[in-house]
Amino acid sequence: MLGCKEEAKNEIHSVAEAKSSVTQSVYAVTSEGEEVYKYSLINTKGMQMEVITMGGAIISLTAPDRDGKYEDVVLGYTTPDLYLNGNPSYFGAIIGRYGNRIAKGKFTLEDIDYQLPVNDEVNHLHGGKGFDQKIWKAKIISEDEPSLKLSYTSIDGEEGYPGNLNVTVIYTLTNKNALEISYEADTDKTTIINLTQHSYFNLSGNFKTILDHNLELKADRFLTVDSTLIPTGELRYVAGTPFDFTTAKNIGKDINADNDQLVIGKGYDHCWIFNNTVKHMKEVAGLYHKESGRYMTVYTDQPAIQFYSGNFLDGTLKSKKQGNYEKRSGLCLETQHYPDSPNQKEFPSVVLKAGELYKTKTIYEFSVK
Ligand code: GLA
Repeated sequence: MLGCKEEAKNEIHSVAEAKSSVTQSVYAVTSEGEEVYKYSLINTKGMQMEVITMGGAIISLTAPDRDGKYEDVVLGYTTPDLYLNGNPSYFGAIIGRYGNRIAKGKFTLEDIDYQLPVNDEVNHLHGGKGFDQKIWKAKIISEDEPSLKLSYTSIDGEEGYPGNLNVTVIYTLTNKNALEISYEADTDKTTIINLTQHSYFNLSGNFKTILDHNLELKADRFLTVDSTLIPTGELRYVAGTPFDFTTAKNIGKDINADNDQLVIGKGYDHCWIFNNTVKHMKEVAGLYHKESGRYMTVYTDQPAIQFYSGNFLDGTLKSKKQGNYEKRSGLCLETQHYPDSPNQKEFPSVVLKAGELYKTKTIYEFSVK
């Protein structure tokens, strides 16, 4: 009986429309005695998402295969302690103030030199002790179209960044099986900002590998990087290189190709520049797992995307399914501005001034093919 119940809980098949809901529970308590909450969102189709207030991390998200079987498609830890103590792989977390790298952690803004913590060899990565390691306030916005608002205020000088920055991130699980992420921020002093989301997707339902997934990126160019993954400033055309995903391509096809750029990042860990530069929502990427039929479409108003093929996963973390997370058992599609923009004048600006509103949106929509 118990076995049956367990199975029913984990493998919900699509049923007639059900009632959507958002529920809250205590997920864990930090060593300082602070409670971390978990919110469980369910839409009318039975798709589920769990979010914790630590890092605003998405710890599970289900999507249906072509038989209507809902399974978890995002990697996560099996116990709270890693979310509470540094989230070493940034699983599912909100990333800020600056997603991706800033060379040597240095930049100059309005004639003032800033030094941010160096936490990725010689560079600053993902905001230092960033938003992934902060406890966010949460508020349920709607249960009909399950929606959760997270807020966090990053004080002037936190991790070396100027300005008090108020950030809100709204996660909405639409009744069309899309996860919408809306970001907003304002500051009281000129600062820089590049928010993103660090979910690792694997559409197979078993978290084994992403090498059998097909990826399409609507991007003719990508940024070449130096040995520390900082852009060289060159926007190179992907045509004729392993970086060409302009038509859907198997991710495993070129990943071990003898290409200097792939050796540097130990695989794909690069930023692609979208062809369509308008700031409106546009379709930018598609990820397909043929066996299950699961398809994920990405829409955003951001100019670029970091496709990271899970190169630093090394088999030491326990999987939510069977075994451990091996290299390339999940991938990130992080919509964002270009890395190191504060130091590269030709890149689009990431500066946010007092009185301005930072506002951006990304959608991960799930369907079957
Ligand atoms: C980003 C970076 C990667 C890696 C991961 C986290 O995607 O680009 O190099 O640091 O985050 O492991």
